[in-house]
Amino acid sequence: MTTVTNETLANLSREERRFEPPAELAAAANVTADAYDHAAKDPAAFWGEQAERLTWAERWSTVLDDSNPPFYKWFTGGKLNASYNCVDRHVEAGLGDKVALHWVGEPVADTRDITYAQLKDEVSQAANALTALGVEAGDRVAIYMPMIPEAIVAMLACARIGAPHTVVFGGFSADALASRIDDCQAKVVITSDGGYRRGAPSALKPAVDEALTKTDVVHKVLVVRRTGQEVAWNDDVDVWWHDVVDTASTEHTPEAFDAEHPLYVMYTSGTTGKPKGILHTTGGYLVGTSYTHHAVFDLKPGSADEKGDVYWCTADIGWVTGHSYIVYGPLANGATQVLYEGTPDSPERGRWWEIIEQYGVTIFYTAPTAIRSFMKQGRAIPDQRDMSSVRILGSVGEPINPEAYVWYRQVIGGDRAPVVDTWWQTETGMIMISPLPGVTAGKPGSAMKALPGVSVDVVDDEGTPVPNGSGGYLVVTAPWPSMLRTLWGDDDRYRDTYWSRFKKQGYYFAGDGAKKDEDGDIWVLGRVDDVMNVSGHRLSTTEIESALVSHPKVAEAAVVGAKDEDTGQAVCAFVILREEAGDGGDDIVQELRQHVRKEIGPIATPRQILVVAELPKTRSGKIMRRLLRDVAENREVGDVTTLADGSVMDLISKGMSASSED
Ligand code: PRX
Repeated sequence: MTTVTNETLANLSREERRFEPPAELAAAANVTADAYDHAAKDPAAFWGEQAERLTWAERWSTVLDDSNPPFYKWFTGGKLNASYNCVDRHVEAGLGDKVALHWVGEPVADTRDITYAQLKDEVSQAANALTALGVEAGDRVAIYMPMIPEAIVAMLACARIGAPHTVVFGGFSADALASRIDDCQAKVVITSDGGYRRGAPSALKPAVDEALTKTDVVHKVLVVRRTGQEVAWNDDVDVWWHDVVDTASTEHTPEAFDAEHPLYVMYTSGTTGKPKGILHTTGGYLVGTSYTHHAVFDLKPGSADEKGDVYWCTADIGWVTGHSYIVYGPLANGATQVLYEGTPDSPERGRWWEIIEQYGVTIFYTAPTAIRSFMKQGRAIPDQRDMSSVRILGSVGEPINPEAYVWYRQVIGGDRAPVVDTWWQTETGMIMISPLPGVTAGKPGSAMKALPGVSVDVVDDEGTPVPNGSGGYLVVTAPWPSMLRTLWGDDDRYRDTYWSRFKKQGYYFAGDGAKKDEDGDIWVLGRVDDVMNVSGHRLSTTEIESALVSHPKVAEAAVVGAKDEDTGQAVCAFVILREEAGDGGDDIVQELRQHVRKEIGPIATPRQILVVAELPKTRSGKIMRRLLRDVAENREVGDVTTLADGSVMDLISKGMSASSED
C-alpha cells in the first residue's frame, strides 16, 4: 500500500477562494446548519427520523443492530417494498400525472416523457412478466442495457418482486458480463438489441450471447427492441420484452420485504483481479439515498399543480451513481428527471447544454472528467444556451481540480449555482462527504465535511486522527444506513478488505487518502491502494494485469495509473513478452490494447504499453509500482535501493523516452 506522503500533500496548492451559499437558497434550504448537531447527538435516532421519509408496511423495531460488527443491520423488523416507495406511493398521493422521466434518446427526435402513473403500469407489467419467466424473490437477475427507460423499469421490477438485480455496465465485455453472471448465479438476463452511441446503433445482445457460452446458469434472456438491428435468436432462451412485458397485466401488488432483504449486487474493482460483488439491502439503502438526495441536492419535487425541480444526473445506470442518484434516491423523493441515452457530443458538442435549456434542468450532477473535457472545448459552446434554470451543480467520481470547479460554477452555473463535490463509493451506497448547498461556504476542490448523521475522519497508520493541516487515510468511524452489508458470497473478504486495517478502532477503511485543512475540512486525494480511477471509473491494476497475462505472448505485466489531464488517471502497462514471442511483431502494442478491450472493456484500454525486458522488483519479488508510476508520469525515478537489480529502471526509463519520441 502506498503511504500518503507529505510530498503528495504539498502538491495541494493553498486554495483561498470561498463561495457562500446563495441567500435565497439558504433561506429555503431543505437542510440547515442545525442538522449537524442534531444528528450528532444521537445518530441512530436521527436516521430513525429520516426513515419516516419512506412508506413502511411494517415499522422497524430497532434502527441499528450493531451486535455483530462488521455485519450491521438497519431498521430490523421493518418491512417495505422499494418499488412501491419509488413509484406507487407518488401515484397514490395524487402525483400520477407528474413526469418521472424525461427520456432523451441520442437520435434527436427520439424522446419520451413518462409519468409516475405510466411508470407504475410498466413496472407492474415487467414484474408480472419476470414472475411468469420463473423469477422468484431472492433469485438474481442481471441487467445489461443502454440508458433507456426500460433499464429503470427492469431494476424497479426486480426490486418489486424481491429479486436482487446486478446491473452490468453496457461498456463491459462479454467476459466481464459472464463472470458477473456466474458469480451471483443470475437466472435471467435483461438486455436490448443495442443502444445509440455516437450517432450509430451499438449492439449489446451479441455480448450476452457470447457470455452465455461461458456460463450455463441463465434460463432466460429478456430482450428490449431498441435499435431494430438484427439479432441472433435462440427460441429456448430468448424472449422479446414487447411480447411478454407489454402484454402483461398492469395490476401488481408489491410484497413487503424485510428491511435487510438484498436489493442489488454491484460489482466493482478491488485490489485483486476478481471484482467484488457489493451487496446493498433494502431499508437502510433507501433511507440513506433518499435523505442524501434531499439534503445535498435540495430537491423541491413540486406538487400536482406546481412544477418542481428538474434533476439530471448524467451517470450510467451501470454504475452505483446511476443506482443511488438516478433510480432509488430521486424516485423515492418523487423527482422529475432527465434520462439521456447517448454521449455528450452527439450529434454535436453542445448536446448536454441543449438538453438543459430544453427541459429547464435545475439540478445537474456529473463527473470531473466530463467537466474537464468541456473546459478544453471552451465556453463558447455552453454559452450558446440559456442555462439560467440551473441552481445546483454536483460533482462525483474523483477529486475535482479547483480550476475545473470554478469553470463549472461560472460557465454552467452562471456564477450563482453552488457546486457540491460529493465523495462516496459503491460500498457506501450514499453520499458521505459533501457541502450542503444552503449551508456551506464551498472551497473549490474540497468535499468539505461529512453529512449530518455520518462520521468520518482522517487517521495515520495507527488509526489515530491526524491534526488539522495533515493528511492520512480516510475512514468512516460509525455505521451508516446504506453501507454495504457484505461482499456477495464472501464475508471474509468483506471483513478483511474494509474492516481489518484499523480493526481496533472498528473503522471502515475507504481506500482513499485525504487531508484535513486548517479548518478541518476534507480534501480527498484519491486511492492509496492498487485501484485506479479512470474518468471516474474504478479499475484494478491487478485485473488489467491478469487480462494482459492471459494473452499468449505475454509473460508478465505491471500496470499503474498515471496522471492524465483528461481522464484523471490513465492506464499505463509494462509487459514482458514470452521468449517464444520474440519481439511480439510490429503491432504488438495494438494487439495487446485490443486484447484488454475484449477482456474487460474499452474503459480499461491502456493509454500506453511499453514492452520491457525486466520489471523493477524487490528482493522478495514484489513489483515496485511506485517506480513505474514515476516513469509513466515523466518524473525522476525515486529511491531504487530496495530493488534486486538497480539497473532495471535505467533501461525502462530509456525505453519510455524512446517510445514517446515515436
Ligand atoms: O477514490 C474515490 C473516488 O472514487 C472512489 C469510489 O469509486 P466508485 O465506487 O466507482 O464510486 C464512484 C461514484 C460514487 C472513491 O474511493 N471518488 C468518488 N467521489 C469522489 C472521489 N474522489 C474525490 N472526490 C470525490 N468527490
